Amino acid sequence: MPQDHFGAGPAIILLHGFPFNRSMWREQIDFLSANGYRVVAPDLRGLGENVAQTSVCDSASEDHRLKSLPFTTMEKMARDVAALMDELKIESAVICGLSMGCYVAFEFIHLFPSRVKALILCGPRAQGSNEAEKTSREAQAQRVLLEGMDFAVESISTSLLAEATVKKRPDVVAHATEMVLQTDPRGAAAVQRGMAARRDYSNDLPNIQVPTLIIAGREDGVRTPEDAEFIQRGIKGSQSVMIEEAGHLMNMEQAEKFNKAVVSFLMTLNH
Ligand code: MLT
Repeated sequence: MPQDHFGAGPAIILLHGFPFNRSMWREQIDFLSANGYRVVAPDLRGLGENVAQTSVCDSASEDHRLKSLPFTTMEKMARDVAALMDELKIESAVICGLSMGCYVAFEFIHLFPSRVKALILCGPRAQGSNEAEKTSREAQAQRVLLEGMDFAVESISTSLLAEATVKKRPDVVAHATEMVLQTDPRGAAAVQRGMAARRDYSNDLPNIQVPTLIIAGREDGVRTPEDAEFIQRGIKGSQSVMIEEAGHLMNMEQAEKFNKAVVSFLMTLNH
């Protein structure tokens, strides 16, 4: 599994969002590895450089191709993370996800509770998808297969990033755009279908007994403050942090504030 792996100390696994890749964690990889943590950031199945795991029949007709593309489920991704931890001989770790990475984190702790020391959930949502969301995700999956990723770039400035980021941080806009355009359309379509089919994690929340930090971006256009509050109410003892002048990609937009929140939380853990 393609991954960045740096540092020594307690392990923290960083699970990226969609349609992005492990490079979204650059600033966290540098910061955390320099501060005494062993940081592992994989490209999740179908995304980044991890496209070999999306199998499609290239020779099929367009119609067949649209119908035959497999799901990349959140469960498969969670099992991939466990296999990577086995390979790296990491028994348990802090699991930190952003958005789609949180769906994977929820699956991971459900499947492997003893392997999670703590959770960091950035821009998370617990509820499963309703019919409207399923229809919209299938439409997006089909569009991406037919047209490629270009159309997805628009949402970066319209709903993913805070106004200040769009105006003052061309580096963040460029990096987000580059990640979207580098995404393999087949992988993206398979992941969209997997997210449409994800479980409702709401009922899992009371079973989560590890220390949990929820991080939200004040101007996140795809998650509401209620999404974070719902999770905080559901996970006993969880804490939350709101980052100002940040949207959905809060770790890239306000890396310094984000890193500070993460390290303050990590320092409270009994590793
Ligand atoms: C993400 O950033 O990972 C996506 O917003 C997740 C989703 O589409 O639900």
